[in-house]
Amino acid sequence: MDNYLDKVRDCYSDYFRREEEIDLFTPGRVNLIGEHIDYNGGRVLPCSLSVGTYGAASKRDDGRIMLVSADFSGSYIETEVSVIEEINDDPDSFRAFGWAAYPLGVFKKLIMRGHKMSGFEMAVTGSLPRGSGLSSSASLEVLTCAVLKKLFGLELDGVTASIVSLEAERDCAGVNCGIMDQFVCAMGKKDHAILLDTSTLEYEYSPFVLKDHTLLIMNTKKTRRLADSKYNERRSECEKALLIIGKKFDKEKKNLCEITPEEFEKVEELLPDPIRRRAKHAVYENRRTLDSETALKNGDIDFFGRLLNASHDSLRDDYEVTGAELDAIVDAARAQKGVLGARMTGAGFGGCAIALVKKEFADEAKENIARVYKEKIGYDCEIMKAETYDSPFAE
Ligand code: GLA
Repeated sequence: MDNYLDKVRDCYSDYFRREEEIDLFTPGRVNLIGEHIDYNGGRVLPCSLSVGTYGAASKRDDGRIMLVSADFSGSYIETEVSVIEEINDDPDSFRAFGWAAYPLGVFKKLIMRGHKMSGFEMAVTGSLPRGSGLSSSASLEVLTCAVLKKLFGLELDGVTASIVSLEAERDCAGVNCGIMDQFVCAMGKKDHAILLDTSTLEYEYSPFVLKDHTLLIMNTKKTRRLADSKYNERRSECEKALLIIGKKFDKEKKNLCEITPEEFEKVEELLPDPIRRRAKHAVYENRRTLDSETALKNGDIDFFGRLLNASHDSLRDDYEVTGAELDAIVDAARAQKGVLGARMTGAGFGGCAIALVKKEFADEAKENIARVYKEKIGYDCEIMKAETYDSPFAE
């Protein structure tokens, strides 16, 4: 971690010719289970990671905002507080800012909530593998909230910061995602997962300490080109399903995940394919998340492993968001000695999968998965051991 802190400080002093007032780290995230249900009012179980985004920043009193990323050359963006005050909070207005649409979107959303801020300058860098689906954008948005809170003494709690970050992502960057990523980047805690009810934002910390096991994060290195359009397609398929079956219950359902698997079985024949399979995934994934939390609490790690497998199979067959690379890496993992379960994590179509493996077999499994994946897909993957970490807003 120190390397990245040095990197962001160096970048800051190269550009701004002084020492920063503050520096901060914000984690990325991995979702253990509860996939594609944070926009269906379901329960999710993500963890914040020791890989994430670093920022070094200071206030300015000339009304300018200067942002530089150490990760892309020539990625210096300059604008003014008055410009951000005046533009609309929509993707067209923010497109020209490139990567800086995320921090500037957060700035805009905070202004819209009445926060008073002057100009500022910030350098950022990230230790998350780029485009890997470990939430680099949510991490950058939440980092910006934490930086602005500290620089300007804002009254901003973690739940609000995650909502502000989501609004920036959705309205200014134009990505219609759920709340999971921003929430866990803001509120995650070392050695814990968060069980988050995405319909109410009620949450509880669930201890996640694997004594005899390791969680591997396996990056397929497949970039997720189709992801956004397919993501929106899945969202609207779920909305259609709810429209058809939501009213069929004594008490109308507002979210797909309010429907239990038992209730679903009674109405599923009303749904045409593939809408039926999309809804089935959402309903059963919600149950799997609750079962996972219980399994982890009870130390029933074998059952947790089986739930991971069932989640991936459902995402592959019913929700259809995996693809050749994620399926290959998950199959390779499941074939290894000591692996209890494996699944894709995040939006899918590429990015990362996770595998739960007995500690003594972790290194051997890592090597074998990498070899089998390369043989099948033709290029290298990247595998790391997950480490959880505190988020800036976690109490
Ligand atoms: C992406 C989105 C999240 C969530 C996951 C799928 O990471 O940003 O809101 O929907 O996909 O679980």
